[in-house]
Amino acid sequence: MSGPVLVTGAAGRIGTVLRGGLPERGWALRSLDVVPVPDVRPGEEQLVADAADLAAMTDAARGASAIVHLAGISGESTWPAIRDTNIESTYCALEAARLAGVPRVVLASSNHASGYTERPADGALLREADAPPRPDTYYGVSKVAMEALGSLYVDRYGLDVVCLRIGSAFAEPTTTRQLSTWLSPADTVSLVHAALSAPAPGFRVVWGVSDNTRRWWDLTAAQELGYESVDDAEVYAEALVEAHGEPDLADPVHRRVGGEYSTDEFDAENFSA
Ligand SMILES: NC(=O)c1ccc[n+]([C@@H]2O[C@H](COP(=O)([O-])OP(=O)(O)OC[C@H]3O[C@@H](n4cnc5c(N)ncnc54)[C@H](O)[C@@H]3O)[C@@H](O)[C@H]2O)c1
Repeated sequence: MSGPVLVTGAAGRIGTVLRGGLPERGWALRSLDVVPVPDVRPGEEQLVADAADLAAMTDAARGASAIVHLAGISGESTWPAIRDTNIESTYCALEAARLAGVPRVVLASSNHASGYTERPADGALLREADAPPRPDTYYGVSKVAMEALGSLYVDRYGLDVVCLRIGSAFAEPTTTRQLSTWLSPADTVSLVHAALSAPAPGFRVVWGVSDNTRRWWDLTAAQELGYESVDDAEVYAEALVEAHGEPDLADPVHRRVGGEYSTDEFDAENFSA
């Protein structure tokens, strides 16, 4: 590999995990966020910039070997906020890659791109191919747009673009739904490393989830990239089930990909920018 990996949204939860783990896998980092990262590591480059500013992103991308685009609003918000930050910054990440000659972009998509998709009735694991765009929120729409823009830049400009439909990337699961959807910090690093390393992936959309006992999203496509999960949320199951009860699989929270985002009570009108 030559040149650092440009990580946008580097000061956030996932960015912080990657800044800790990717250098151990041999990746040099150029971190970008609208806020300064609090603990710049030796050898890490830092840029404070808006990922929705094409000129700034193009400058930031020069000399990079890949872009990992995490920057954005990481949950539901108003339409103007989602449009102006999430959709615009995804366009800028891809267009900056094209303009600066960066061959690969890894995009932080989300399960909410297909949040209304239901759990297979036969108990089979859900493949990405069986979870087409079915967003549960404006946030989910921005992730559908992310995947669509990624597809365009592969077909039109020959980039490699890997979209990670991340489940719940937190230090540990805190709800019974997350016993299925958790992506552990170690597995987050492994998945992004695989997305950066896989030879000539073209366009891919893969679930980002640990090998959880209660997982119902298929891992085959991610494993084909080289992803190896080492964690299982089941170690947290006893405490979470004791606190919240066994999940009712008839409940949309547990029956649909997007969980509570797909429920009637969860409405964008309740969110402010
Ligand atoms: N954490 C999860 O469970 C999860 C699940 C699915 C998808 N994702 C996606 O992964 C990405 C990272 O998630 P996270 O949990 O680390 O979120 P986060 O909110 O912790 O971090 C997002 C970062 O983006 C930065 N940012 C926001 N707008 C920006 C802009 N215009 N320019 C530059 N930086 C900007 C913020 O300052 C913040 O540091 C997001 O795109 C999110 O939608 C996360």
